[in-house]
Amino acid sequence: MNKVAVIYYSLEGHTQFVAEKISERLGCPVIRIRLKKEFSTVNTFFKFFWAGKSSVFRETPALADQSLDLEAYATIILATPVWAGNLSSPVRSFLSKHRLEKKRVFLVATNSGGSSERCFATMRTLLPTGSVAREIGFINISEETYPIHRKQLEDFCDDITT
Ligand SMILES: Cc1cc2nc3c(=O)[nH]c(=O)nc-3n(C[C@H](O)[C@H](O)[C@H](O)COP(=O)(O)O)c2cc1C
Repeated sequence: MNKVAVIYYSLEGHTQFVAEKISERLGCPVIRIRLKKEFSTVNTFFKFFWAGKSSVFRETPALADQSLDLEAYATIILATPVWAGNLSSPVRSFLSKHRLEKKRVFLVATNSGGSSERCFATMRTLLPTGSVAREIGFINISEETYPIHRKQLEDFCDDITT
């Protein structure tokens, strides 16, 4: 199999949960996108305000210094939470730094009940044309709700390996 990596950002653990499940199923590395200054989750109002604002204004917060050698991977699974109907700003930062040329890309979004369509549409514009092989969205996914999502996630993983 071509080498695969799961790359994700997660503020509150849902996307991390999905990324880790995919990595377990595929036996591939999972890489967290880190920021120089992480968003705080201590206060709900400020969390939605700052993170939401950064998405709405298409900000690209500074990434932490991570030595990411993506050359080794032919397939990238990129996972983001939906923020204000769009991709999270840390994933926007990642995509502005890494063009993912010549990669096969699978997109994953988690949200709490809205749609992931605009998020995927934006991500496609930030990626090389035709690079996105498949997209999948999960609503309210967590350890407790995993039984509802398991089959869909496993089918998605099987698609990546065929
Ligand atoms: C700033 C912010 C904006 C959000 N906007 C939306 C939204 O527009 N639609 C939606 O369904 N969920 C929205 N959510 C909920 C998250 O998408 C959802 O809880 C997601 O699974 C969180 O992933 P995480 O736990 O990996 O951070 C938002 C959450 C935050 C923090």
